[in-house]
Amino acid sequence: MSPVSFTPTAAAEEMLRRWIGLDPNTIGAAAIRRAVRLRMLAVEIDDLAAYLRRLESDVGERDRLVEEVVVAESWFFRDPQVYEQLRRFAVARLSGTSPDTSLRILSVPCAAGEEPYSIAMTLLDLGYGPDRFRIDAIDVSRVALSKARAGRYSPNAFRNADTAYRDRWFHSEKGVAVIDESVQRCVRFAWANVLDERLLDEALGVWRSSYDVVFCRNLLIYLTSDARQAVERAIGLLLKPDGMVVVGAAEPAILRDGWVPCAAGSTFTLRRATRSPGAVGRSFGAAPGPAVEAPKPPAGRPLPAAIGRGADPPGKGAPPEVATAAPAPAPAPAPPPEAPVVDVAEAAPGDTAAPPRTLREVIAAANTLANARRFSEAIALCEGYQQSGPPAAELFFLTGMLHQSLGRADLAEDCFHKTLYLDAAHEEALLALSLLATGRGDHRRAEQFRDSARRVLERKGAS
Ligand SMILES: C[S@@+](CC[C@H](N)C(=O)[O-])C[C@H]1O[C@@H](n2cnc3c(N)ncnc32)[C@H](O)[C@@H]1O
Repeated sequence: MSPVSFTPTAAAEEMLRRWIGLDPNTIGAAAIRRAVRLRMLAVEIDDLAAYLRRLESDVGERDRLVEEVVVAESWFFRDPQVYEQLRRFAVARLSGTSPDTSLRILSVPCAAGEEPYSIAMTLLDLGYGPDRFRIDAIDVSRVALSKARAGRYSPNAFRNADTAYRDRWFHSEKGVAVIDESVQRCVRFAWANVLDERLLDEALGVWRSSYDVVFCRNLLIYLTSDARQAVERAIGLLLKPDGMVVVGAAEPAILRDGWVPCAAGSTFTLRRATRSPGAVGRSFGAAPGPAVEAPKPPAGRPLPAAIGRGADPPGKGAPPEVATAAPAPAPAPAPPPEAPVVDVAEAAPGDTAAPPRTLREVIAAANTLANARRFSEAIALCEGYQQSGPPAAELFFLTGMLHQSLGRADLAEDCFHKTLYLDAAHEEALLALSLLATGRGDHRRAEQFRDSARRVLERKGAS
């Protein structure tokens, strides 16, 4: 019996699993069936078996089907605390070095360029010219890459509360935001499948141990466990021994192989657990002081304020349903509470500044405290606002992450539930709850949360 007559799109699912590592459970069989139907219409083949044969023999068609299933959802400065960490890393690495020392950064996957351009804006805002860094950006979606190269964005790409960078680096053309050429020139885009070493090699040139920072965010959550391991191996090869890897908020627990947080307050910027000091370049644990001052930002372009995660993603509405299983990632060892794992020069929180009043200010201040490992103070700040201000999903989520940094799983869980009460489509809270459930051995619950997250993502992909 052919796979086609057994499960209509099983062969397509298998191809997607083999080629891009997609775990079909994450987007759902219905989404894959819909994608296959769309492609059959486009190529005017009405027999499923004939289409699946075409898929096996025609790489162009394979890539077009991939376009229908990938979730190329991204936005500028997604998880702003990551960019705060990048600033510290860049300053610690580059200050006091000769002008020919530069940072090499990889964004994989880069979707339509929102992430690599955010990296470029961060470094330009610090005052580093394009000669001090190089950003490579790859993705398996040619559609996303051509949008990235065009550099034209809808309001959806500007979801964060702080969009001051938009005035600095974009201009408007008939209501479309167009990114400045000076930012575009900082990023080199290339098509590649991160699971295919040959393609990666072609896209990146000599790439082993080349990168100071690898951004690999919001990909692992969609992958099978074999594919996750393959991506992790690729990151391991790409990264310098003392480099930093940045994953999505729900992804640190997916990595298995000896990664530790770069700073206790930033659980999704990671470095190798062991490394030989000074093996390659400067350690970014360099002590703070005059030597780590960033150059002056360009005139007329004031530095952005650090803020928390952006505005709510679209897709709010009915609570996600809970149904069938999807594999939950294995929990990672939690960092020791307020332990001295910090490897990045710490900025003192604005103790002398006016107390934060708005939600955005509170989130910014709590993030700064968290980056300085002052978790309890950060929690107190969030809780103070929770008592007096309107309830905010983002604040509960951040409080949950802070409790998690202190190893307080129960309190973290409570906060993630409150987050969902306010925003049922908060996929990061769902994934965090899934990981907590896995951690206490409740795999059924973990699967339910993961499945709910999958449905949320599916709805967002469809909207
Ligand atoms: C949700 S976006 C993440 C973009 C960005 N890193 C972020 O966090 O906002 C996921 C991207 O992964 C890409 N992708 C999926 N599988 C891939 C693979 N095997 N190799 C390279 N890119 C892949 C998709 O095309 C999509 O653009």
